[in-house]
Amino acid sequence: MGLEVGIVDMAVHQIPGLNTFGVSLVRLDFAPYGENPPHTDLRAIEIQTVPEGTLFIGFVLSNQNNNTLISKILYKGDVFVFPIGLIHFQANVGDTLAVAISGLSS
Ligand SMILES: *[C@@H]1O[C@H](CO)[C@@H](O)[C@H](O)[C@H]1NC(C)=O
Repeated sequence: MGLEVGIVDMAVHQIPGLNTFGVSLVRLDFAPYGENPPHTDLRAIEIQTVPEGTLFIGFVLSNQNNNTLISKILYKGDVFVFPIGLIHFQANVGDTLAVAISGLSS
């Protein structure tokens, strides 16, 4: 499966004035059935909303919590939080484009 996700991040390398403020913003554009495969953001909590489309999202709890998968389908207008450091993913489960906007605490 291809990525088929466009990522535009608005972080300190584009907006130097953000330096030391600990915030950034990312927009992800998902082609139909495109996915952002499992990854971690080691320095940031991520809060995400879905202005367009339908996303299957989830994260995996730590070893001490038996690596439990927490997952959910997000519809237009829904909001979800990915805890810092945990492996997480997003996948467009619709046959239309999907968009996610994420704020990150780094
Ligand atoms: C993890 O699994 C073990 C074995 O099934 C169980 O005893 C334990 O309560 C589970 N821990 C959590 C945090 O769910």
